[in-house]
Amino acid sequence: MEDKKNSFGLLDVAEDVADLIGSGLSFLKERFGDGLSCCAPEPLKHAADEIREEIRVVRERDPAAKSDLEVLLLYSGLHAVLAHKVSHRLYGHGHLFAARAVSQVARAVTGIEIHPGAKIGKGFFIDHGSGVVIGETAEIGDNCTLYQGVTLGGTGKDTGKRHPTLGNNVMVGAGAKVLGPFRIGDNSKIAAGAVVLTEIPDDCTAVGIPARVVRCKNEKVAADANKNLDHVHIPDPMSTELSSLRKELERLEKEIAAIKAEAFSGSEETDPDTQEKDHETV
Ligand SMILES: CC(C)(COP(=O)(O)OP(=O)(O)OC[C@H]1O[C@@H](n2cnc3c(N)ncnc32)[C@H](O)[C@@H]1OP(=O)(O)O)[C@@H](O)C(=O)NCCC(=O)NCCS
Repeated sequence: MEDKKNSFGLLDVAEDVADLIGSGLSFLKERFGDGLSCCAPEPLKHAADEIREEIRVVRERDPAAKSDLEVLLLYSGLHAVLAHKVSHRLYGHGHLFAARAVSQVARAVTGIEIHPGAKIGKGFFIDHGSGVVIGETAEIGDNCTLYQGVTLGGTGKDTGKRHPTLGNNVMVGAGAKVLGPFRIGDNSKIAAGAVVLTEIPDDCTAVGIPARVVRCKNEKVAADANKNLDHVHIPDPMSTELSSLRKELERLEKEIAAIKAEAFSGSEETDPDTQEKDHETV
């Protein structure tokens, strides 16, 4: 009974603290709201606008988000994206160590590792977040969403550009791995758990390991159509052509042999080829 009372006591304190923070922030907003932004220095105003925009993106895409304050304080995806904005700027100015340090601190806090070199467009949302890894040469278009456990990585075989490029409005499902320097087209979806090793066109859904396209422009895609998307085992058109010519030649030789055999089987005449040769000798 005593324990129950104590735990209620702790809950009361926690609620009081939360209320205090909430009302403090509301007071500041009411008191200084526009006043602050009118007098704040330009970079601070810009930063505030960026944070406001990121909060809007989360609230738009996550129905579980109940308030701006909740998103600002408790959404690790948002913290990782904001930290990346800082680290990417440092990276761009050549402060590579500081950039990496910021991204590693963000990783320790959020469980999301975004390399400072990665280029990320507007409206980027990482839901849940833990275990997301985004490589140095990855590029992400506008309004993309990643779920927890997604890797935008390299295969280890490429140098230079070695991570994927996501077009606009791409969704990559939980645990999916997109590996290599190819493009995922605009409005495409990568299913949870997929491993994508080749380019995916616009407006398509890819599922499975290795990923295959199952839907494109709202139409189901037949399984064998994916042969066209295999960029590893690309057919050599020259050797395909030569091999079909060789087959045609073999067929013609057989046909000629059969005609000859038929023509000479019933008659006493000798083979015209031999006759020609006999003439030549005479
Ligand atoms: C792929 C996905 C986006 C649906 O896209 P869609 O274009 O609407 O595709 P459909 O639902 O019509 O599915 C198409 C086919 O792919 C299959 N499929 C869907 N998701 C799949 C998955 N993750 N793995 C394997 N196959 C999958 C479906 O069974 C269907 O197969 P069928 O044609 O044989 O019936 C969705 O299934 C998904 O994986 N979303 C990820 C969401 C996520 O990660 N949430 C985490 C929240 S914490």
